[in-house]
Amino acid sequence: MTMTEDRSARRLQATGTENALELRGISKLFGALRALEGIDLTVRPGERRAVLGSNGAGKTTLFNCITGDFLPTTGTIRFFGEDVTAFPAHERIRRGLRRTYQISLLFTGLSVIDNIYIACRGVSRGRFSFIRPRRDDALMASAETLVRVVHLEDLKDTLVSSLSYGQQRQLEIAMALAGAPRFILFDEPAAGLSPTERSELVEILLGLPSHMGYIIIEHDMDVALRVADFVTMMHNGRIFKEGKPAEIEEDPEVQTLYLGGGDDA
Ligand SMILES: Nc1ncnc2c1ncn2[C@@H]1O[C@H](COP(=O)(O)OP(=O)(O)OP(=O)(O)O)[C@@H](O)[C@H]1O
Ligand SMILES: [Mg+2]
Repeated sequence: MTMTEDRSARRLQATGTENALELRGISKLFGALRALEGIDLTVRPGERRAVLGSNGAGKTTLFNCITGDFLPTTGTIRFFGEDVTAFPAHERIRRGLRRTYQISLLFTGLSVIDNIYIACRGVSRGRFSFIRPRRDDALMASAETLVRVVHLEDLKDTLVSSLSYGQQRQLEIAMALAGAPRFILFDEPAAGLSPTERSELVEILLGLPSHMGYIIIEHDMDVALRVADFVTMMHNGRIFKEGKPAEIEEDPEVQTLYLGGGDDA
């Protein structure tokens, strides 16, 4: 058995019995502000979940608690069965959790492929190495694969500063995919994209390997409902409804709250 087969066999074993994510009683206070309150959330392995909610609902704070960027004030977080509540972010990354940010974090002076290469190298050793990449063939092969996954192969030697906004968001997805994660958190990947770029994004997300679960925060209902198996609605730091995309779409309460919920900044 090769190392890769061994790894995927272990992953299947893990995914057979445990939820990808299990949040119980998560709250997060910023001083007197309750950004999250009493969040219970279960996501199965390979599941694609959309989190919708108006500005300030607590969606990004939820991500920050899951990734370890913030410690929750109360509650527990399990990732594939393991209690990671107190783990620092890099320990969660090591276990196969990734995220993208609402604000772009790319090396704009480097090419597309170099950015992906750095991301691959970053998760294979320590994080945040700023030395110019020295080529490692296996990592370069992974980077070459990822550049195709996000449909940027024709632009792989282009400087990031010359990419369109939408192409930069595609690149961020490739970087989140470095090191074959088990679960990804996408924070509004469609924000600011043109209709064409949105379709491209939807295709990329639908094309991800089926074992790779994710949560996508999305203001665009159309995008969310196309790329998710299940939808969680948040409002004022709480989950107020969960359901299949069709149920959510038809729900009058969701429609009122959501359409009244402010625009996408
Ligand atoms: N680091 C922080 N310090 C203090 N308050 C914060 C912090 N981060 C978020 N908040 C507050 O917590 C609440 C939830 O914010 P959050 O960013 O999670 O909302 P969101 O649902 O992601 O909104 P948006 O759709 O605008 O991105 C808001 O009232 C916000 O001002
Ligand atoms: Mg947010």
